[in-house]
Amino acid sequence: MEIDIFTLFPEWFEWFERQRHVRNAIAAGSRLGYVSFRDHTPLSAGQVDDTPFGGGAGMLLRVDVVESALRARYGMDPVRLREHRRVVALTPAGRLLDDALVDELAAEPHLTLLCGRYEGFDERILEHFASDEVSIGRYVLAGGEVAAMVVCDAVLRKLPGALGDASSSAEESFSAALGGHPEYPHYTRPAEHRGWRVPEVLLSGHHERIGQWRRERSRERARRRPAPGQD
Ligand code: 6GU
Repeated sequence: MEIDIFTLFPEWFEWFERQRHVRNAIAAGSRLGYVSFRDHTPLSAGQVDDTPFGGGAGMLLRVDVVESALRARYGMDPVRLREHRRVVALTPAGRLLDDALVDELAAEPHLTLLCGRYEGFDERILEHFASDEVSIGRYVLAGGEVAAMVVCDAVLRKLPGALGDASSSAEESFSAALGGHPEYPHYTRPAEHRGWRVPEVLLSGHHERIGQWRRERSRERARRRPAPGQD
């Protein structure tokens, strides 16, 4: 998987790339690339944003700046780029990121992530360059960078080799293997702490009963905390 991240703050991702599961994904053949909007602005003084027409608070990422950054990286008209790869704009009002969308993105050979800043994107960027608009939740962050890290984290750990044990992402929370339900509870040593005992069945070594117990707990959690649209 190759992911290109377009941002005003490429240095934020230096920390992200030092994290072990991200290093594992890179060692296993994934690649993260960065394009700084500021390196590609056609404007003097490194300007990348501007005030909204019609007035209002905040600054918007300019469409000409994004066009020139995309052209420089891919050598084609960015209007055609989205026929070749998913171009994901991170924006609070976008499609909510969930396990199904993560699977979809993880199946792509390459992705482009566009991080907006300030009040966001000039609408023409979303309309003409982006194939997707993705949000990580219904609240507003100062910019798309942290959301891009969330997307990369969730996507990279789905790829073979990112986790120590290849089976460990198949049965996790919200996966198809659990019928989209949250994961069952986990316990480790000590088997008792302050009188709080680990459920006996998990110590029994009886795999069938353990499997049944876990599926029941997973369904029970789904009833207590329904996913949006399931309540
Ligand atoms: Cl993707 N971007 C910003 N700026 N805020 C958000 C978000 C994205 N998702 C939730 N809040």
